Amino acid sequence: MRPLATAQLLILLSQATPLVTSQDSSSSCLDYSTRSRTRHPPFSPGRHALSSARPSPSCRTFNLSSLESLLGTLPIADPDLLRLWQNTYPNTLDTAIKWHGHSNSPDSEEELTFIITGDINAMWLRDSARQLQSYLPLLTPSPSSDSLASLFRGTVNTQARNVLSAGYCNSFRPPPESGVISDEEGGDKDVVRPEYDRAGVFECKWEVDSLASFLELSRDYYFSTHDIEFFGRQGNWTEAVRRVVEVGRGMQRGTTYGADGRVLGSGYSFARMTTRSTETLANDGAGSPVASGTGLVRSAFRPSDDATTYQFLVPGNMMFCVALAGAAVIAEDLGEQELAGEMRAFSREVREGIEKFGVVEVVGRMG
Ligand SMILES: *[C@@H]1O[C@H](CO)[C@@H](O)[C@H](O)[C@H]1NC(C)=O
Ligand SMILES: *[C@@H]1O[C@H](CO)[C@@H](O)[C@H](O)[C@H]1NC(C)=O
Repeated sequence: MRPLATAQLLILLSQATPLVTSQDSSSSCLDYSTRSRTRHPPFSPGRHALSSARPSPSCRTFNLSSLESLLGTLPIADPDLLRLWQNTYPNTLDTAIKWHGHSNSPDSEEELTFIITGDINAMWLRDSARQLQSYLPLLTPSPSSDSLASLFRGTVNTQARNVLSAGYCNSFRPPPESGVISDEEGGDKDVVRPEYDRAGVFECKWEVDSLASFLELSRDYYFSTHDIEFFGRQGNWTEAVRRVVEVGRGMQRGTTYGADGRVLGSGYSFARMTTRSTETLANDGAGSPVASGTGLVRSAFRPSDDATTYQFLVPGNMMFCVALAGAAVIAEDLGEQELAGEMRAFSREVREGIEKFGVVEVVGRMG
């Protein structure tokens, strides 16, 4: 388990912290995990007198005028509930956009975004996609580099780069262009196969929803903007999607027992020196044995980053099934018919696997 995300922390702390205030000064901005430990006026005029949790405007990590307008006109009558909304909804933009800029490559205008989870200086494929997904209602097409659309494009690009460099990994260090220092240890001591670039990866836990998140984020951006030109630039996106399909196909293969009773090898394995069983995998890093040919994709870890006991995580497969079909529309609109066909066929196989092995009929009365 990772520590609580900032939005959760904020809800807990808004109720029980002492009446001390530490403000951002104009010259320096408090780290959000420090700032959120104390209460800040003005307090909501309701029963709970909730703190104002947003950093001062000069300390916010991304400005979006449509968000400010929305926060000012929310039709929520309860003053505490309204404050909770005003505190939490902007939280990713206020605190977690650690960097938004361009690639160093001279021949490229590639936008890049680095979104931290809030408490760790690293970007998870899953978390960053979810963090942006909250703002989908505000997403409109825009070529401007200070738009929400640019933030989405930068995140898709950063994720595509990450998927291409280390397709099994869940969490990544800042792009070198950002100049953001990455000094936390992460999974540096983990023994993982296949090997990956330790300088770019924070942790390499294979989770099927990581790759589903990349596809879903892409689909989210495309369905809101119809910006097909973005996905066609230099083919990086299609290359990353091919890698998603390749990794996913590999993880459909099982790890069962050989004739001599040994667990058969795995395309991915993960072992960590730890006192927690949920932070490593059984069977020398292959995980509990599972069969081949179910159509399902196995997931060594869950969305909480804890190890799975049964690797065919059904909710992760449901997400992957839907994400493949959604992103296939982009591939098709790019003229990549073959890739789109492969994605749809894969999606169908996963769906059939879920229907066959993931549905249990409960006979008799419940409860
Ligand atoms: C957001 O706007 C404030 C002014 O209201 C400015 O001081 C701050 O630098 C802006 N933040 C970013 C990331 O541009
Ligand atoms: C595609 O990837 C290459 C290599 O990482 C990079 O130099 C280039 O800027 C990328 N292009 C676009 C448009 O994203």
